[in-house]
Amino acid sequence: MSNKPLMVAMPKGRIFEEAVALLRKAGYPLPPEFEASRKLIIPVPEANMAFILAKPTDVPTYVEYGVADVGVVGKDVLLEEEREVYELLDLEISFCHLSIAGLPDWRPTLSPRVATKYPKVASAYFRKQGQQVEVIKLNGSIELAPIVGLADRIVDIVSTGRTLQENGLVELEKMMDISSRLIANQVSYRMRHTEIEEMRVRLQEVILEGKHVKNSEK
Ligand code: PRP
Repeated sequence: MSNKPLMVAMPKGRIFEEAVALLRKAGYPLPPEFEASRKLIIPVPEANMAFILAKPTDVPTYVEYGVADVGVVGKDVLLEEEREVYELLDLEISFCHLSIAGLPDWRPTLSPRVATKYPKVASAYFRKQGQQVEVIKLNGSIELAPIVGLADRIVDIVSTGRTLQENGLVELEKMMDISSRLIANQVSYRMRHTEIEEMRVRLQEVILEGKHVKNSEK
């Protein structure tokens, strides 16, 4: 076994807490101050691991370049970033979906504009449907675009639906379900196969256990 700590890229933000809880359940001794810390690299020597806290969209980049051996990332980001990484496991956390939304009185126009954080995913989706649209890339607060007249529709993540509702928008079409995934660097997956596979199996056991608990509650 290599002595170098296994580097794990974690997304700061809404996935983070659920991912930390899942890793703890899988027996990884993440310190209590893990969530509160402002540190960007958190070593966990007991587990011979270190965690990199990155912006969610950058997680696949750290993993592709091998700075991180593995990472946790939303399927939405994974599809948009198109990085050369292995997708190892659906972690079944941070469930949401990617949808087309707009104002309730939205009507098709000749040259529709779609605002999104996911230009590649959105372009591919509309192309497949034979719809010609102009895709406008935004970096956040996507719901603003139809309200102020920047775009006719948006392609964005819907979780609770509150942001749409509070901004007077409606979901027009559900495009796909999204959850977080465990990804691995392709070289690390060969070189540190035992450790990474152990992590995948441990996480999978927790996910299956959770399902059993839910089923027995029925
Ligand atoms: C995401 C997404 C929506 C919102 C959906 O934004 O882009 O705006 O969450 O969540 P809801 O259905 O529970 O309201 P995020 O909070 O990541 O911030 P952003 O606007 O900067 O993208």
